Order: sequence, then structure tokens, then C-alpha cells
Amino acid sequence: MRLALLSLLAILEPSLSYVVPSKTHVGVTIPLVKRTNLRDERGVVYAQALNSELPKMERKMQRGFSAFRKNTGVSHPSDIKRLFRRSPGALPLTDDNGSLWQGFIEVGTPPVPFIVDFDTGSSDLFLPATDCQINCRGHRRYNANASTTAQDLGRNFSLAFGDGSTVRGEQFVDTVIIAGLNATNQTVGAATEYSTGFSASQFSPDGLLGMAFPQISAFNTTPVFHTLVTQNQTTIPEFGFKLTPEDSELFVGGTNPNLFNGSFVQNPITQVGFWQIALDSVDVNGNTTSTNLSAIIDTGTTLVLGDTDSVVSLYSTIPGAQDASNIVGPGFFTVPCDTIPNVTLTFGGKAFPISAESFNLGLVSQGSTDCVGGIAAADLGNFWVVGDVFLQNVYTSFNVGNSTVGFADLS
Ligand SMILES: *[C@@H]1O[C@H](CO)[C@@H](O)[C@H](O)[C@H]1NC(C)=O
Ligand SMILES: *[C@@H]1O[C@H](CO)[C@@H](O)[C@H](O)[C@H]1NC(C)=O
Ligand SMILES: *[C@@H]1O[C@H](CO)[C@@H](O)[C@H](O)[C@H]1NC(C)=O
Ligand SMILES: *[C@@H]1O[C@H](CO)[C@@H](O)[C@H](O)[C@H]1NC(C)=O
Ligand SMILES: *[C@@H]1O[C@H](CO)[C@@H](O)[C@H](O)[C@H]1NC(C)=O
Ligand SMILES: *[C@@H]1O[C@H](CO)[C@@H](O)[C@H](O)[C@H]1NC(C)=O
Ligand SMILES: *[C@@H]1O[C@H](CO)[C@@H](O)[C@H](O)[C@H]1NC(C)=O
Ligand SMILES: *[C@@H]1O[C@H](CO)[C@@H](O)[C@H](O)[C@H]1NC(C)=O
Ligand SMILES: *[C@@H]1O[C@H](CO)[C@@H](O)[C@H](O)[C@H]1NC(C)=O
Ligand SMILES: *[C@@H]1O[C@H](CO)[C@@H](O)[C@H](O)[C@H]1NC(C)=O
Ligand SMILES: *[C@@H]1O[C@H](CO)[C@@H](O)[C@H](O)[C@H]1NC(C)=O
Repeated sequence: MRLALLSLLAILEPSLSYVVPSKTHVGVTIPLVKRTNLRDERGVVYAQALNSELPKMERKMQRGFSAFRKNTGVSHPSDIKRLFRRSPGALPLTDDNGSLWQGFIEVGTPPVPFIVDFDTGSSDLFLPATDCQINCRGHRRYNANASTTAQDLGRNFSLAFGDGSTVRGEQFVDTVIIAGLNATNQTVGAATEYSTGFSASQFSPDGLLGMAFPQISAFNTTPVFHTLVTQNQTTIPEFGFKLTPEDSELFVGGTNPNLFNGSFVQNPITQVGFWQIALDSVDVNGNTTSTNLSAIIDTGTTLVLGDTDSVVSLYSTIPGAQDASNIVGPGFFTVPCDTIPNVTLTFGGKAFPISAESFNLGLVSQGSTDCVGGIAAADLGNFWVVGDVFLQNVYTSFNVGNSTVGFADLS
């Protein structure tokens, strides 16, 4: 039964292969694939896709902050925009052509495979339910009625996303298997309504699996990885990501020693909720442009987003850099394509470079000599959100045991 399902999936998703976990290793590996289409075949950026990133991130951070307030009874210290936040109106409908790091999990008994986006910027797991009528076509569905381990919690959920629409449904508990490790009695959101941004044409995985802390869980529940740790499915309370376009993986239960070189620079979490740590400084071609920042490390974000002051200082030291808010969208800048700057982010005293390939998102328009920069301005709060543009350049460890994020050089 299981083999049949897996080979069917291999046909559906030829680029994803399932690795049978080996019990001789401490941890297990989940290969990830990325859907990169931020630029077209001419190398020109999809402005609309880039533009949708900012409202998406704003709403995502709000979801985390509001869950934090509900779960802990206090406001998140970074939630400084709370008092003057505009009410959630309809933002323009946009396509989610960003990058998503996706891989397999299995849910239920007997186990049914799903593809999820592994997201360190949120804490809940949801999938489209069999009876989902809105925007779920083309996704695999979760049928709680067909799982002997499913239990209806009799609780609904509703999550607002950056396109102005909502994912809603009902909460169940069921068994969730990640590379052979079982999280039993795990809360799973079975969505009866998906937002436009999660329809199959815009979001290729079936669902989202949040990997941050319980404090920002909108379900006010234990996230999957925390469940695995609590249930002794893994003895090392840590997971590692390698997120390069060529070959990427999530390692559950430690870090994969074959994928990094040297030791980790460990960064203590400054506020448990998101994976939020100190960002010592930002440097451009050897010149420091900002210091003493806070950064949320988010595998579910394509870009690196910073506060406007810091991002303007960064681009103002780059000869030829231009504000691209009228061409690409608010917050974006271009740099001359032939002199992509050497930008580094310093964490724990060590400067980690962002390669020119990662920094350069693509041509601003056909025939232009200007390229869109991967660091954009978004006033989300007094913190940066550090996504793919940076994470492609390092191996990252997320440790829930000692609440640290570690970065090491890729090998
Ligand atoms: C998204 O990517 C597809 C190609 O995969 C492209 O045809 C489409 O125009 C893009 N949409 C946006 C809004 O950028
Ligand atoms: C599951 O079974 C219940 C009770 O028979 C039914 O109301 C519900 O619609 C079913 N759900 C799905 C997803 O089939
Ligand atoms: C959950 O939502 C459904 C559909 O909107 C509604 O019928 C049901 O009463 C809600 N259940 C709870 C516990 O709020
Ligand atoms: C997970 O559960 C399955 C049955 O659902 C079982 O065969 C397997 O051994 C379990 N794995 C672990 C690591 O406990
Ligand atoms: C399963 O989870 C539910 C809700 O989180 C809880 O009420 C129940 O006690 C749990 N059951 C077990 C066996 O842990
Ligand atoms: C996990 O291991 C710890 C320490 O060995 C033990 O106290 C705890 O009961 C175990 N938990 C489960 C769910 O087996
Ligand atoms: C942090 O976690 C790692 C791996 O789980 C462990 O080897 C290390 O000793 C821990 N460090 C501290 C200070 O607890
Ligand atoms: C760094 O920022 C924090 C909070 O934003 C502030 O309390 C602290 O004084 C700053 N440190 C320096 C050296 O500027
Ligand atoms: C950047 O640093 C170099 C020396 O490393 C200096 O010559 C240059 O003026 C600086 N540029 C800016 C804009 O500060
Ligand atoms: C970036 O660094 C490389 C290697 O150190 C150097 O060749 C290149 O000129 C630098 N780029 C800029 C824009 O300074
Ligand atoms: C690992 O780092 C060492 C020291 O920096 C370097 O000499 C070596 O080439 C690196 N190995 C790989 C595979 O990158």
C-alpha cells in the first residue's frame, strides 16, 4: 500500500524522491525542492511576484504577534506597529511566484503522503481537507474520516494571509510522520477554505508546516518538531537546513555533517516565538551601513527584508543604486548588474557573505543594465526578516533545546 502510494507520487512529482530513513543515522534527511520563478526566461524579474512578498510578510508577522499575545498574555516586544496598524483590508490579489522549500510528510493511519512548505516563520500545520470547496483543487486532500488515528478537536481556525484572503477549517489531531519519525496526537488544521495564495496554481505544495515555537502558534498548540522532541522520536532537539537551488534538504534530529564545513556560530534567541536573534551588522563592500539589529530567520521568506532606514543606508553606499519603487514596487532598489555589491550579514561576530547570485534577483526590465537587489525595505517592526537570499549561502541549525540558531559555511 505504502509503496504503491509512493510510486504514484514519484510520477506526480518526478523531482522529489522519498528517502527511506536509515535508523543507523542519528537524524534523518528530507530532500527539498524549490520552485524558483522570480524571473522569466529573459532574466527579467516578475515585479508582481516580488511585490506580493511585502504584504505577505507583514500579515505573517502580524499572525505571529497576535498569536503570541493570545498565548502568553503579553505583547511581543517587536510588535511595535500594533497601535497604528491599518485594519486588514483587501490587498491586491497577487500570485505567489516566490520560492518555497517543500518536501514530503505523511499524515494519518494508514499514512497518506503530502508535500508541505517547511516554514521556520510560523508554527502551525495545515492541509486542505477532502471537503474543501474553495481554492483547494489540484492539491492532495486530508481525509480525517479515513484515518483511524484522527480525532476531531471540535475547534475551528482562521488564518489571514497577505493576499487579503483567509485559510479556515477545523482542527484535528492525528499522526504526522516526517522521514519515519512519528508525531502522534499532533494538531493538524484541515482547511475547508484556502486563500487564493494557496491555490495550486500559486502554491505548489499541499500545505504548510510551521517550525517556529509554540508561542506563535495560532492553534496554541505544540508544533510538529516540538512534538517529535517531546515524544522522544529524536534525541537531538535540533534541525538543519541546506537551502541551495541545486540541492537542498531538511535534516531532522541534528545537522548533516556532510553539508557544512567548520563549526557553527551560535546565536541565542532573543525572544522565543519566532527564530529571532541579534544581527550585529550589515556591511556593503567593506563599509558598515547598520549595526545592532534584530533578525527573524525565516525559511518561508524569499528575500531579506529590513527597516527602511537601514536599507536606504545600505543602497546609498552603492554607486549607481536606484530606488525602484516606481518600477518594481515600494521597498525595492536596483544596482548596476556589472557591479553587484558584496553584502555581508554579521551574526555572532562572524561576517557571512551573500553571493552575487543570491543578491541579484534579476534584470529590472529587458535590455536594462540594472538588476533588482535581494534586500528590500519593509517596515514590519524593529527587526529584519532574513530569508532565502541569505540562507542560500549558509548551513543553518535551529536548536529548540538550547534556543539557538547556528550558521556554518557550506562545504
Ligand atoms: C508566475 O510564474 C509563471 C511562470 O511559472 C508566469 O507565467 C507568471 O506570469 C508568473 N506570475 C506572476 C504574477 O509573476
Ligand atoms: C466525515 O464524516 C462526517 C460524519 O459522517 C461527515 O459529516 C463529514 O462530512 C465527513 N468529512 C469528510 C471530509 O468527508
Ligand atoms: C466551525 O465552522 C463551521 C462552518 O463554518 C460551523 O458550522 C461550526 O459550528 C464551527 N464550529 C465551532 C466549534 O465553532
Ligand atoms: C511510526 O509508526 C509506524 C506505524 O504507524 C510504525 O511502523 C513505525 O515503526 C513508527 N516509527 C517510529 C520511529 O516509532
Ligand atoms: C491529544 O491531544 C488533545 C488535544 O491537544 C488532548 O486533549 C489529548 O489529551 C491528547 N491525547 C493524548 C493521548 O495525548
Ligand atoms: C522521553 O524520555 C524521557 C527521558 O528519558 C522520559 O522521561 C519521558 O517519559 C519520555 N517521553 C515519552 C513520551 O516517552
Ligand atoms: C546545544 O545543542 C547542541 C546539539 O543539540 C549540543 O551539542 C550542545 O551541547 C548544546 N549547547 C548548550 C550550551 O547547551
Ligand atoms: C542595541 O539595541 C538595543 C535595542 O534596540 C538597545 O537597547 C541597545 O542599547 C543598543 N546597543 C547599542 C550598543 O547601540
Ligand atoms: C567605503 O569604504 C572605503 C574604504 O574601505 C572608502 O574608501 C569609501 O569611501 C567608503 N564608502 C562609503 C560610501 O562610505
Ligand atoms: C566583491 O568582492 C570580490 C572578491 O573579493 C571582488 O572581486 C569584487 O570586485 C567585489 N565587488 C565589489 C562591487 O566591490
Ligand atoms: C573547509 O574549510 C577549510 C578552512 O577554511 C578550507 O581549507 C577547506 O577548503 C574547506 N573545505 C570545503 C570542502 O569547503
